[in-house]
Amino acid sequence: MSLLPLNPDELLSTTRAVRKRLDFSKPVPDDVIRECATAAMQSPSGSNMMTMGFIVVKDAAKRKAVGDIYQQCYSMYKSMDGVYIGSIDKGEASANDQQKRSADSADFLGEHMGDAPALIIGCTQGARLDGAPAMMSASMLGNILPGMWSFMLAARARGLGTAWTTVHLMMEQQVADILDIPFDTVQQVCLSPLAYTKGTDFKAAARPPVDSILHWDRW
Ligand SMILES: Cc1cc2nc3c(=O)[nH]c(=O)nc-3n(C[C@H](O)[C@H](O)[C@H](O)COP(=O)(O)O)c2cc1C
Repeated sequence: MSLLPLNPDELLSTTRAVRKRLDFSKPVPDDVIRECATAAMQSPSGSNMMTMGFIVVKDAAKRKAVGDIYQQCYSMYKSMDGVYIGSIDKGEASANDQQKRSADSADFLGEHMGDAPALIIGCTQGARLDGAPAMMSASMLGNILPGMWSFMLAARARGLGTAWTTVHLMMEQQVADILDIPFDTVQQVCLSPLAYTKGTDFKAAARPPVDSILHWDRW
């Protein structure tokens, strides 16, 4: 295992959504993927049940098929004014510049998801969440979301890039069919490309002041 020299705060603050800097030409060894999944398994799980699941898509034809679906969904997402990343006005020039760069990057992935040497789909299993009560849906999502993020942090520590994406869920059933996912009991939550990055010098992103999200003793 070869790790980048990042302290915990550096790892947490420089794990970006990587898209244009993914190296599509370099394969990702299975052992490295196993290390990332091993890290993910140390995250919390409801009732200590370990119902998270990761589908690793390496097969070229399957990556292309999933990538094509991602592209279709991304073009639908692009037409959603106020939802599409490039349609959001942050109200301030430098924040809008950052938003435009993020949108260009997201647009690039819209065209290239299937080119990544591996795709990772984080899943939660047990039942579908559609219409489930809050306790059930929050618990089931909570069984994969921390694990998926741990996977991504472990990937970054190993020189790999990831990008959290959800737009393919507009056509979740089609991806389930390609990958033999039992749709009624396994819900897909996140799709990420996985590839070595071109360079490893990622920076902390500009964010609003921390007090804009902190609510002390009451909302
Ligand atoms: C719930 C969620 C859904 C997202 N969906 C997508 C997506 O479908 N496509 C995409 O390119 N990025 C997606 N992103 C990535 C965000 O665009 C990205 O995290 C954001 O622009 C901030 O960039 P950073 O993570 O590099 O700081 C998603 C992120 C989250 C948390």
